[in-house]
Amino acid sequence: MITRRLKIDPLNPDPEIISLAGNIIKSGGLAAFPTETVYGLGANALDPDAVSRIYQAKGRPSDNPLILHVSNLSQAESLVFMNGKARMLAKKFWPGALTLVLPARDIVPLKTRGGLETAAVRCPDNLIALELIKSSGVPIAAPSANTSGRPSPTDSESVYHDMNGKIDLILDAGSVRVGIESTVIDISDPDRVLLLRPGGMSRALIEDALNMTLERPDSQSSKRSPGTRYKHYAPSIPVIICNKDSRLDDININHAGYMGVHEPHENFSRKIIFASYSDYAHGLFAGFRELETQGLSCILVEWPEDDSGINEGLRDRITRAAGNNKI
Ligand code: TXA
Ligand code: MG
Repeated sequence: MITRRLKIDPLNPDPEIISLAGNIIKSGGLAAFPTETVYGLGANALDPDAVSRIYQAKGRPSDNPLILHVSNLSQAESLVFMNGKARMLAKKFWPGALTLVLPARDIVPLKTRGGLETAAVRCPDNLIALELIKSSGVPIAAPSANTSGRPSPTDSESVYHDMNGKIDLILDAGSVRVGIESTVIDISDPDRVLLLRPGGMSRALIEDALNMTLERPDSQSSKRSPGTRYKHYAPSIPVIICNKDSRLDDININHAGYMGVHEPHENFSRKIIFASYSDYAHGLFAGFRELETQGLSCILVEWPEDDSGINEGLRDRITRAAGNNKI
C-alpha cells in the first residue's frame, strides 16, 4: 500500500485535504492525523472492518479498546450513556485531553470497544482533528499512530517511520502541543470515578470540577484500563530511571543518553535537558525515538520530583517505558 503524506496548516487547514482525508475514513480506510496530545491513527469507529485494519496496522492486541473521537458533546451522547457529572466535565474540558469511559450504546461495534460494555469518548482540541471528524460524518476511532509498544508519535515523521506502507494517508501538521496522551477516566459510576490513565489533563483540574477524589483501580480490578496491561512506549534500547542524586558509576556514560530537567553530574555523550516538566512531557517520546538511533546502549531518564500537573502522566509514561529498570 502506498502511504500518502500531505502537509496541512494547523491553523488554517485546507478544506480539500480535509475532505480527501474525510473520504478515506468514510470509505473504510486509515488516516493518521494530529491531535493536541499525540498523532492518532483514525478509522470509522462504526465500521468493524475499518477498525480491524487499525489493529492490524499497529499490531495491537484486539482486546485493547479504542477511543472514539467526536467533534462535540451531542455526537458523544449518540455513542455512550452520559450522566450528569460526565456531561459537566465534557462541557468544561472539551475540546481537550480528557477521555471519558461510559456505558456504550449498541451502535458502537464490539470491535471498537474491545468487547467491553463501556466505550471511551473524547473531543480533541485540534482544528484539523475536529474538521476531519465533521468531514467524515462519523466518530473516528483513533489509538496513537505508533506500532503497538513503541513510543507514541508526536510528529508526522514518527508516524511515517512506524506506519509507512500500512495506512492510506498521513496528515503532516508538525509537532503536537502536549506530547503525552489524554487522561482517561471511567465515569460509568458517577459516585466512584476512576483514573485509568493519567495524561494531558491534570488530576487536580478534574477533581476540582467534580469536587471528589479520583481513585486508581487496583491491579486486579476488571475496571483497569486494558491498555495498561501491555508493554508500552519503549524505544529499542533499555530505559533506566534515575534521579538527581543517583550514582551513575556503573553506567558507561559514553554509551548512554540522558533526558531530564536537571543537568546530570556526569558528562553524557548525548543528553536532552528540558526547561520545564511540561517540555519534558512534550519531548519524552520524540527523545526516545531520537536517542535510540544514536548507537547508545541505554537511556537514563530523570524521575520527576513530584506528581503535580503533567508530572503524574509523565511519571506513568516513564515507568511503563522503563519497566523495573531503576538506579
Ligand atoms: O490522547 C489520546 O488519548 C490519543 C489521541 C490519538 O487521542 N489516543 C490514545 O489512544 O492514546 P490509545 O488507543 O493509544 O489509548 C487508549 C487508552 C488505552 O489504554 C485503552 O485501554 C483505554 O484508552 N480505553 C479505551 N476504551 C476503554 C474502555 N472502554 N474502558 C477502559 N479503557 C479504555
Ligand atoms: Mg497508545
